[in-house]
Order: sequence, then C-alpha cells, then structure tokens
Amino acid sequence: MSSKLVVGNWKMHGAAQANQALLSALVAAVPDRVDVAVCVPYPYLAQAHGLLSGSPIALGAQNVSEYAQGAYTGEVGAAMLRDFDCRYVIVGHSERRTLCGESDATVARKAAAVLHAGMVPVVCIGETLAQREAGQVESVLNQQLDALASVLGADQLGALVVAYEPVWAIGTGRSATARQVQEALGLVRGWLRERVRNADAVRILYGGSVKAATAGELFSLPDADGGLIGGASLVAAEFLAICEAARDASQSGLIRE
Ligand code: 13P
Repeated sequence: MSSKLVVGNWKMHGAAQANQALLSALVAAVPDRVDVAVCVPYPYLAQAHGLLSGSPIALGAQNVSEYAQGAYTGEVGAAMLRDFDCRYVIVGHSERRTLCGESDATVARKAAAVLHAGMVPVVCIGETLAQREAGQVESVLNQQLDALASVLGADQLGALVVAYEPVWAIGTGRSATARQVQEALGLVRGWLRERVRNADAVRILYGGSVKAATAGELFSLPDADGGLIGGASLVAAEFLAICEAARDASQSGLIRE
C-alpha cells in the first residue's frame, strides 16, 4: 500500500514572519513514510519554496488559471507555479466554486492545465448540506466527476488526487462521520474503477474539519488515502500530529474492499 498524503490548505492565511515559523517547525519534525504538502497563497510561494527546499515537504498552490498565458489580469498560469517547483495544485475547492462561480467545466479545464504543466491536481468535490439532506450525495459526486471525464482521458484521470470535501464540514468543526466519509470515498473509488486501470492507486483524500484527534480513524478507512487540511494546517503541532496519524494509518495496511 502506498503512503498516505496529507495536504495543508492555508487558504487566505499567512504572513511572512508567521510562515517562516510555521514552515521551519514543519521541516524540523515532519515524519517520514507519509507524503506531506502545503498549499500556500501565491505571494508566499517564493518564501515557502526557499524554506522547504531540501525537505520532504512538497509545495502546492490553491488555484490556477485554466489558460496557459495571456491577457488575464490577476490570474496565475500553471507554468508559473511549476517555476516554483509546485507539485500539487488544488482545483475546484468549494470556496472557489461558491464564491468565484467556478463551474464543473472550469474545474475540469483547470485540472487539465495542471496536468499539462506536469503537476498533480487535487480536485475537490463534495455536496452541500441541502444536497445531502435531499439524498443527492451520489448524484452530486457523479456530476462533478463526470465533468472531469468529459475533458480528461483515462490516463489523466488516473493521475489526479481527488479530495472529497463535504461543504457542510468545511471550517465548521463538524467533520463527517467515518461512515459518511467511507460511503462517499467508496463512491469515488467505484467511479474510478469503471474508468481507470489504476483506480486503486489513485489517492482519494477526505477534507472537512480534520483534527489530530479524528485523523487516525478517518485515514484508516478502506478508501482513505489521506486528508486535505484547512484550519489545522496553520498550527504546526496539530498539522504534524495529523501527519503522524496518516503515517500510522498507512502502516496498518488495510486492504480495499
Ligand atoms: P477545514 O479543515 O478548516 O475544515 O478546511 C477544510 C478545507 O476546506 C481544506 O481544503
């Protein structure tokens, strides 16, 4: 079984001095046998690149333009992120879908741009509370995933990281239960198995109010390959404890159903 992946999404948090303290603390104590990345705001890519160089912690961004270059004021292209050795780029976070009006089709094109530049898209999908209460979890996830398949070929789908982030669990302190998480991750795995040869090797993450106290249980679920961490990624001790929980969960070596 491959190692788990823990990705910190700083969102719009950070400041030069605080970043230095946080990243130095992470570099000093990051556990091995787990893949760790931090997705920082654009202005801090250079700083984070410098502080992480030579460490096993990978760098990532939180968004990207769907276009390669051109007259798109304020946008950032995938090749620019590649210049800072970014390995991961989050695309389709629910905050961008809701606040910036990103459609499923836009998210798919952004994922394609990231792959084209040689990086790994961390594609976020997930239902709102109203959709869950209406019994629409499966159809919402299928719709979001199908949009990817209409732009990406099977090999490209197999190169994604998929993050299941139920919108109602993000930043609320109310994580989905282990049962809800496995149910959704299982749906994603099933969708992948129908389209991708290496479906079991595709990493599927859970995100939404993950804390050190809950990470072990969530990351041990059969289809969980790690987590996408918001608030807790801003606190070194908490994020490191989550990384340790991921490492321990990899070693438990669960076989997928
Ligand atoms: P929280 O961990 O703060 O709930 O955020 C989750 C998230 O949106 C990560 O992308």
